[in-house]
Amino acid sequence: MKDKGEKMYMIHDEVLNLTESPLYKERVNNKVFPVIGEGSHDAKIMFIGEAPGRNEAATGRPFCGASGKILDELLADVNLVRESVYITNIVKDRPPQNRDPSLNEIELYAPFLDRQIEIIEPQVIATLGRYAMEYVMRRYSLLDDSAPISINHGKVFETKMNYGSVKVIPLYHPAVAIYNNKTKETLFEDFKKLISLIK
Ligand code: URA
Repeated sequence: MKDKGEKMYMIHDEVLNLTESPLYKERVNNKVFPVIGEGSHDAKIMFIGEAPGRNEAATGRPFCGASGKILDELLADVNLVRESVYITNIVKDRPPQNRDPSLNEIELYAPFLDRQIEIIEPQVIATLGRYAMEYVMRRYSLLDDSAPISINHGKVFETKMNYGSVKVIPLYHPAVAIYNNKTKETLFEDFKKLISLIK
């Protein structure tokens, strides 16, 4: 049986060879990397963002640019060490000009995310932004899956996975907090709820 690292490496390999993705040629033309995810394979908390931005595609690491700086502040505020959580995105390649990911792109990359969730078996899934919230809420048939993020942020939803029950907490995307102090305050408050969920 493959261990968690080997299973994650298979995902890495498959994404690397995902030539059918409309974003594959962007990756090759711009000499950038897919972003698979980073952190502990035994994390209790898994953060799911939208798609890599410029810095992330240049380095192959999730949330390492301006939104990553905000995410680091939020983690530090609740004494969470970045290496102890797992951070990834739904879409693993950067959409050109940072446009929103298309439905087609989300459908193509989401099975990799589903497999990452099964490998890590987190107790808590924290979605960052509307796209990750909508995907996870629909995927796991959570109530209020059509409510906007302004209503659902900071609320806790529960779902059953084959390995046990998981709490899902939608959060605003840290990028919104770069220019909006009110959202930043809300994120700090929601992170306190998030940290109260882990045993
Ligand atoms: N925004 C995201 O959604 N993910 C990243 O990795 C970086 C910015």
